[in-house]
Amino acid sequence: MKKLIGPISQVLTLDKLFLKGALKDEQLEIIEEAGILINGDKILDVKPWKKLLKTVPEAEKIELGGKLVAIPGFVDCHTHICFGGLRAKDFALRNAGKTYLEIAESGGGIWDTVSKTRKLTQRELAQITANHANRHLSDGVTTIEVKSGYGLSVEEELKMLRAIQQANSMTHADLIPTCLAAHLKPRDFLGSSSDYLKLIVENLFPVLKEEKLSNRIDAFVEKSAFSPEEIDPYFKKAKDLGFDLTVHADQFSVGGSKVAVAFGALSADHLEVSGEKEISLLSKSNTIAVALPGASLGLGVGFTPGRKILDQGGSLAIASDWNPGSAPMGDLLAQASILATFEKLSTAEVLAGITYRAAAALGLKDRGKLVQGQLADFILFPTSDYREILYHQGRLKPAEVWKSGSKEVW
Ligand code: NIG
Ligand code: FE
Repeated sequence: MKKLIGPISQVLTLDKLFLKGALKDEQLEIIEEAGILINGDKILDVKPWKKLLKTVPEAEKIELGGKLVAIPGFVDCHTHICFGGLRAKDFALRNAGKTYLEIAESGGGIWDTVSKTRKLTQRELAQITANHANRHLSDGVTTIEVKSGYGLSVEEELKMLRAIQQANSMTHADLIPTCLAAHLKPRDFLGSSSDYLKLIVENLFPVLKEEKLSNRIDAFVEKSAFSPEEIDPYFKKAKDLGFDLTVHADQFSVGGSKVAVAFGALSADHLEVSGEKEISLLSKSNTIAVALPGASLGLGVGFTPGRKILDQGGSLAIASDWNPGSAPMGDLLAQASILATFEKLSTAEVLAGITYRAAAALGLKDRGKLVQGQLADFILFPTSDYREILYHQGRLKPAEVWKSGSKEVW
């Protein structure tokens, strides 16, 4: 059934924008007084409202009132929204001068969340994940990557990934699961890091395939987590088995971005401490750089060098990293707006970074632009000037969110 939605003051299709490199706002395709024509869950056309009224009179009309700007639904390509408990204590300690690593060593950090997550049932975790996803959806985030990584044993990682799968049927947002068993060597594992990774390869990877729990493998390449040498055989095996790869890279020390590029990972995420060498390597590759401004804001560290990556021809996505430790805010639009101010990113670059470039970081080609054949995932913001979306720094909330051709009701 065809539906014609409009009139809309401005529709930003993001058509004809490239995957890589800097973008200027003049390159944005803006269709004024437009209608969006959809067929089922897909976009059929975006054209001036009056034209569409004449050419498809048979379509069901959904008439909107007032000023509205439409843009593609946001894609958050890096989150950890499946977790138990909070870490407000860590946040207070960091603000009082302790470092992320000091807190981790004294009982806080990732391991604290692992202990709290292990105490929950799959059903409880699914409910928490769906609640987080629904909050994100009401902010316009229609596709959400969700990592495991707070289980850190074969059984507990499986519990998390099954919970994410279950949560996917409890929200209209699309959840894209990623296995982050290589987040940290678990404290209760007696062997070496390499022994732990071997255990995951042998006992978890086959179940991921059997139960179709995830087609993506992530690793935290960091001095305090796994070294490039330890990750090398792990990623080789994952790649041989056909998994897509992504890396927590260059967050506190460099090394991860090189691993990401060498393995042809879809994305290298964080990059707060990437230097000229790393920026150049990434920018020449097809690996998408993912900035996580929420982690910079949560930890009080510098932002990912997005401007330099774009100017050297790289592709930049922006994600929330929503997690209970380093990035508790979970507001993608506010964070992307703030990153724009500090890194001097154009509106086109920011919007690309939270739509089609983020979709590409997940290997998804069917969303992120409002053009024929793409999923009918879009947001209507209550304004007639698209620049206000970033200008209000996250305070301008969607008037409507459409996911796969249906309007969300809340
Ligand atoms: O992306 N860097 C490692 N992992 C997460 C933090 C997880 C946590 O602190 O619980 C991140 O920032
Ligand atoms: Fe993360």
